[in-house]
Amino acid sequence: MANVVIVGTQWGDEGKGKVVDLLTPEADLVVRFQGGNNAGHTLVVKGEKTVCHLIPSGILHSGKKCLIANGVVVDPQVLLEEIDMLNAKGIPVSSQNLCLSEKAHLIMPYHRALDQARETAKGAQKIGTTGRGIGPCYEDKVARTGIRAIDLTEPETLALKIKQNLEEKNFLLTQFLKTAPLSFQEIYDEYLCMGQMLKPYLCDVSFEIDQAITQGKKILFEGAQGTHLDIDHGTYPFVTSSNPVAGSACTGSGVGPNKLGHIMGILKAYCTRVGSGPFLTELLDETGDYIQKKGAEFGATTGRKRRCGWLDLVLARDSARLNGLTSLAITKLDVLSGLPKIKICVGYKQNGRDVYSSPASLNQLALCEPVYETLPGWQGELSAAKTWDQLPGSAQTFLKRIEEITGVPISIISVGPGREQTIVLREPFGK
Ligand code: GDP
Ligand code: IMO
Ligand code: MG
Repeated sequence: MANVVIVGTQWGDEGKGKVVDLLTPEADLVVRFQGGNNAGHTLVVKGEKTVCHLIPSGILHSGKKCLIANGVVVDPQVLLEEIDMLNAKGIPVSSQNLCLSEKAHLIMPYHRALDQARETAKGAQKIGTTGRGIGPCYEDKVARTGIRAIDLTEPETLALKIKQNLEEKNFLLTQFLKTAPLSFQEIYDEYLCMGQMLKPYLCDVSFEIDQAITQGKKILFEGAQGTHLDIDHGTYPFVTSSNPVAGSACTGSGVGPNKLGHIMGILKAYCTRVGSGPFLTELLDETGDYIQKKGAEFGATTGRKRRCGWLDLVLARDSARLNGLTSLAITKLDVLSGLPKIKICVGYKQNGRDVYSSPASLNQLALCEPVYETLPGWQGELSAAKTWDQLPGSAQTFLKRIEEITGVPISIISVGPGREQTIVLREPFGK
């Protein structure tokens, strides 16, 4: 099977964008299937950095088609800005190489307003969302009141839906959340105008993918966020509002499960988390600071400092099961260079008893203690390593332990942000 799905195995920001950019030359189509512009996927090519929030990370390669599928929630303004940003950088984006599903739900100004007002109201209990309106947009999708990309092409339908939504949203905003109401006319005029600009991009993504598969073309599916931010399987309620797990590539883009192929989990050599929520292996000491600084761990979307901690292989093992991982790509191995000792969490204990996977109850999770294995560190920089043999013995031991504990073979090792700073052990497209 010639298709590959890329998923995050932690709490996002594992380096999915870099791996998608790296693998795109082998693919024909690159498909984003969930999340929205809460994602920030960073690509570094010849020292130049590009951050994609909505457009698939394959966009830097000419001759490839990038598709934003039905499972993605799209803020049309952000999409248009991203198209402009890329064109301004000399990366051509047009309906030739970018398509948007007619069925994708749109993020509306009231979604952003609700997201932000609710977070403010929650105070210390806040989730730490990106404030981009992701949760409220998915809520409307499930409530069957959402507005989809296709609605932009039908002015009367669009007007009716905005009016109906505003009636409820303005009540919530003013009466319950004590913030300002939003104007129908402003939203309608703005969205109608953006609809004109986006019309050429609209397509039936499921059909496009099916045709490509029939022609023997290869598809690269790009997940956003990470498995432990999954609305069903993550550390609920400190999660996002979509399913970042691999199965979501099917529902999120309209392909059958038998078409997915190789499922690659991206695993950072340590853990990070942005926003609130449990983090058993978090380091609140100088080692955490060292990793945060060396790894330049700042959110690509909100600029927030990412919380850092040791690699948690209980979470990785859960991710292997939840996604059906075929292989792992280990990223940011270079960041751990220079530490005298490296710890990996190989299990949890609760009152002396082994806990095999992350408990559903956050109260139970809070009672768990990480069980660490301590491995020797390595000195010297790794960023020039091109082969397994060029890695120090201690780094090899670290990688082998990850394979042993998760039961998943490693296919890719990333030793720097640049496209070329990568060791490929096994081609996922099955060459
Ligand atoms: P994504 O959301 O999973 O695509 O990841 P982000 O782009 O949000 O965060 C990953 C960050 O790490 C970005 O700044 C990347 O440029 C950078 N990065 C990716 N892989 C490596 C690596 O192997 N080493 C180092 N030092 N940086 C990396
Ligand atoms: P990528 O694709 C890291 C986090 C937010 C917050 C929680 C809910 O770049 O890996 P939301 O705005 O989705 O309602 O916020 O999820 N979050 C991410 N953290 N990387 C991401 O995306 C994230 N997308 C959302 O910080 O804790
Ligand atoms: Mg990111």
